[in-house]
Amino acid sequence: MPELAYVNGNIMPIQDATIPIEDRGYQFGDAVYEYITSFNKRPFLLDEHLARLKRSMTELSFPLVDMDTIRSAVLEIFDKGGYDNGDVYIQISRGVAPRDHAFPESNEIQFIMTVRETKRYSDEMHANGIKVITVEDQRWGRCDIKTVQLLYNALAKQKALDSGAYDAVFVGPDNVVREGTSSNLFIIVDQTLITHPLTPNILPGITRACLLQICRERSIPFQERFFDTNELYAADEAFLSGTTTEVLPLIEIDGHPIGQGGIGAISKKLLAALRNKM
Ligand SMILES: Cc1ncc(COP(=O)(O)O)c(C=O)c1O
Repeated sequence: MPELAYVNGNIMPIQDATIPIEDRGYQFGDAVYEYITSFNKRPFLLDEHLARLKRSMTELSFPLVDMDTIRSAVLEIFDKGGYDNGDVYIQISRGVAPRDHAFPESNEIQFIMTVRETKRYSDEMHANGIKVITVEDQRWGRCDIKTVQLLYNALAKQKALDSGAYDAVFVGPDNVVREGTSSNLFIIVDQTLITHPLTPNILPGITRACLLQICRERSIPFQERFFDTNELYAADEAFLSGTTTEVLPLIEIDGHPIGQGGIGAISKKLLAALRNKM
């Protein structure tokens, strides 16, 4: 099946898609994005992703965009891709204009998407878990906005790989544990889930919200509160959450073993409950 791209209303094979070099996403990182997956041809939590996309654009004073048009285009590219389980990447920039830091006068955003077959983590990774390292969070102060400015996330991920771990976890200057390079982070202590509260320092993950909803439905206790690396290292279980990550257990953090070496009982229950909703 073809991997497709959508560029401002036109759908084409991915290799034929181009964008002008004066796109502000390319020049300034002046663009927002979303990543949505489908299961059995049904986009998962589409409205939640679109609401976050709208919020990202509003927070950055983008020109007003008709969300119904975006929604129809997303459904169209999922449909044309034809995958049972597909991933749609959406990127909207503030437009194409001669290079100038100031916003362009024109209100024409640049709207691109791609669709590909979903690349899920293997069952083995979900069962056995991964090792991570912590890194000082040197990202900007509005990590709650999903912008394409992911340079520091990329540096941190590479640092993790170079050190023999699989991913990195950002820690604030106050030793507060924030989130992963492309995921939120949960720990479990005495049967209670704990995750960083929603502040400008983390992305309001759609999977994070879905997991908290599962906790409410199943009366699993949870707390949205700050915790530091000492609490992280001593946790009974820990996992990363995200659209493609789902619930990915952490078995070692900065060399400290977590839990019994594989997915913990509560993490396993949450992964199953999440998949049940897809
Ligand atoms: C920094 C960061 N945090 C958290 C997430 C998880 O968000 P979601 O569950 O909406 O995929 C992502 C996903 O891309 C991310 O990049």
